[in-house]
Amino acid sequence: MAKEKTVYTCSECGGISPKWLGKCPHCNAWNTLEETRAEPAAGKNRMQALTRGLNAAQPVTTLSHIEAADVARTPTGLEELDRVLGGGIVSGGVVLIGGDPGIGKSTLLLQALDALSRQMPVLYVTGEESGAQVAMRAHRLGLDGSQVRVQAEIQLENIIATMEVEKPSFCVIDSIQTIYSDQLNSAPGSVAQVRECAAHLTRVAKATGCTTVLVGHVTKEGAIAGPRVLEHIVDTVLYFEGDTHSSFRLVRAIKNRFGAVNEIGVFAMTDKGLKGVTNPSAIFLSTHSEPVPGSCVLVTLEGTRPLLVEIQALVDAGGPSPRRLSVGLERDRLAMLLAVLHRHAGMACSDQDVFVNAVGGVRISEPAADLAVLLAIQSSLRGKPLPKGFIAFGEVGLAGEVRPAPRGQERLKEAAKLGFSIAVVPKANAPKKPIEGLTIHPVERVEEAISLVRSLM
Ligand code: TYD
Ligand code: MG
Repeated sequence: MAKEKTVYTCSECGGISPKWLGKCPHCNAWNTLEETRAEPAAGKNRMQALTRGLNAAQPVTTLSHIEAADVARTPTGLEELDRVLGGGIVSGGVVLIGGDPGIGKSTLLLQALDALSRQMPVLYVTGEESGAQVAMRAHRLGLDGSQVRVQAEIQLENIIATMEVEKPSFCVIDSIQTIYSDQLNSAPGSVAQVRECAAHLTRVAKATGCTTVLVGHVTKEGAIAGPRVLEHIVDTVLYFEGDTHSSFRLVRAIKNRFGAVNEIGVFAMTDKGLKGVTNPSAIFLSTHSEPVPGSCVLVTLEGTRPLLVEIQALVDAGGPSPRRLSVGLERDRLAMLLAVLHRHAGMACSDQDVFVNAVGGVRISEPAADLAVLLAIQSSLRGKPLPKGFIAFGEVGLAGEVRPAPRGQERLKEAAKLGFSIAVVPKANAPKKPIEGLTIHPVERVEEAISLVRSLM
């Protein structure tokens, strides 16, 4: 018998290489090539299957003659989810939702399915749980008497056949990694299967106008497993964040063809499922009765709402090769800030371990966090707390300059509303009119910020 032909497929980008390599030649990721069975070349039937649902040629039109119609959105009934989706679900839209196991993806989607089932036919395809398990969850969520149609199925062709019969307007596939197609030889969850199934379901969604949500698992590295390729196929990518030990969950839009990205929805996990938090600005603060060293409150702006997040730093005597660890913040950025602190403010941490953490499992990617991180580090290094009611934000450059953050006024107003009284902010963010209850210290340079807080501490 002829030996079966194998190829090596990258688990990051799905690129194919005939032999094993340490580095993927397509996306340059290391150690991502896995041996997979080679798919037979696309035969006539397969090509027909691939192009089914696509019309022949579409007419060509001048752009200015096309009417810029906004897409109609149907609210899901969960306000915070609608916020990240850009107002609600769009007919034919495909949403990929990723997150760690147990973070609440199935819970959130079952709640959305139930709410939508009151106005349209909906279908929940579960490949991970049995119908009975879904029913148990629904009971727990208080959704008895729910009209959601449920199918426990993992074969793509059967799912598509069911969709033809049920004609849902909203369909959830939980999860895309469990689904496999008969057309391919590779195992469920492999890059080839996930990509092919997602592409197929997307074509069905576009052809039938059924809004489709694909649930995706997350790898150890935090990418939606397999396949970054999925992110190109779908219209919207949502990401569940948060510490499974705390009750707050964030849903973030990473990509959205129908709305703004970087919008976040905030939920609290209760014993009756996920509840939207409409005023989340103060949930990422820990409650110290008195200020403690190594803590600085940052006003960050996520999407349209300012959030106050406590940044904690611990600087402690390290060994011969001191560690720099960060949770919720970028580690490279931390190394850079430590260099700036040393060079421009004369505070060295070269023989110390430095740990920083954003409270509550929130992930902060905006550079406006820099100043708060620096001030938390210097506070821990000196063992002295920042004053009570203190907030900071601003980007720090390599030359030691403090650069303005977008929409500084809004951040300051939110802080004042929550009772904060002292702010250190970039000079360009200083408001023209004073904000009631808030003393604002504008700074231009890192050394200026450090000597200023020293005089306050
Ligand atoms: P789940 O939605 O199953 O997560 P995922 O689909 O992302 O893997 O999340 C379930 C977790 O949430 C589980 O640890 C139990 C908890 N939970 C509640 O706290 N309250 C509830 O009402 C429900 C349904 C689940
Ligand atoms: Mg689940």
